[in-house]
Amino acid sequence: MIKYLGSKRRLVGLIGDLYALTPSSSAADVFAGTTRVGQELKRRGAYVHSIDYTAYSDVFARCYIETDLNSLDIAKLQSRMSDLMALPPTEGYFVTEFCREARFFTEENGCLINAMWDHLRSHSDDPLWPLLMTSLIEAADRVDSTVGVQMAYLKKWAARALLPINLRVPDLIPGRGQSHRLRLPDEASQVPEVDFAYFDPPYNQHSYIGNYHIWETMARGDTPATYGVAHKRTDIRHKDNGSLFNRKNQIKDALHATVQGIRAKYRLISYSDDTWLSLADLLEIAGEGAIALAVAQRRYIGSQIGIYNPSGEKVGKPGKEKNNELLVLSGPKKWTDAVSDSYADLIVLP
Ligand SMILES: C[S@@+](CC[C@H](N)C(=O)[O-])C[C@H]1O[C@@H](n2cnc3c(N)ncnc32)[C@H](O)[C@@H]1O
Repeated sequence: MIKYLGSKRRLVGLIGDLYALTPSSSAADVFAGTTRVGQELKRRGAYVHSIDYTAYSDVFARCYIETDLNSLDIAKLQSRMSDLMALPPTEGYFVTEFCREARFFTEENGCLINAMWDHLRSHSDDPLWPLLMTSLIEAADRVDSTVGVQMAYLKKWAARALLPINLRVPDLIPGRGQSHRLRLPDEASQVPEVDFAYFDPPYNQHSYIGNYHIWETMARGDTPATYGVAHKRTDIRHKDNGSLFNRKNQIKDALHATVQGIRAKYRLISYSDDTWLSLADLLEIAGEGAIALAVAQRRYIGSQIGIYNPSGEKVGKPGKEKNNELLVLSGPKKWTDAVSDSYADLIVLP
């Protein structure tokens, strides 16, 4: 899975356990990103609806959530991946933008990515496309030269960038689900009714499409104009393409509209305790009878590695190393009581 800010790698087990305390059989992973949480819910037996507005999250969801491992021809997938890896390297948009004008990848890897990406761009109707594109993005992520976001690349090559790119078969799961590429809160009513909904909105002003613009371009298969040192997509600067969740004065209303707009019996919201919404705000958004758990999670990779400017020089000190991730729950009292009993030491009050 890709390196992703706000990814719930360390929390998926707990989220799965909280889901398992409900009698649910369907779930929505709202603000799905890598789809890591949706994958856990699928493992726990849920039919999962995965919701995010990025094209790359939609690709991951079509791979990990929609694809049922039990009905997949793995040998066919492996053979298609071998064909892709055997393509001769090519010059093109990917190499110019992300290897020469910006240095996110070595030219050697970039020319191979370019060849595989060009091939996939002209075969988007292939049923295996989401799996192959996921595999390509994940392979590119393993050889990028960044600290985990594409706002900048490192001045000196990261050690992993010098390794040869290599596709791997995505780690698929048995079960079913559906991807919905939707912009929230406006399109919340399009999410089918579910038993359980998990919400994991952004925590700050940085746009995910800006932070992961290369994955967005690979997933969309377009060749947009770019700007700045990082060669971000120019279209992300258009005000209509921004997210209300990246705006301090709009996130509360936007999250309230999303949480209340998605029809679910059991609701679970993740939020960090060091940003824009207070615990009281979150309890209000979650609705009557809501309770909150505080779970420590390590801060994003930049806090361990340092903060870098666009030229790859280390600047400034990162913030505190750990933050409290809040999990705010609302739903039938039987559930919130059971959670309060099982996790009494994690309960926090406003
Ligand atoms: C904190 S991340 C979610 C991380 C995810 N739970 C994981 O473990 O990978 C927030 C997600 O919200 C998505 N997002 C931001 N604004 C959105 C909007 N207006 N509508 C839908 N998705 C949005 C971003 O693309 C990003 O993937």
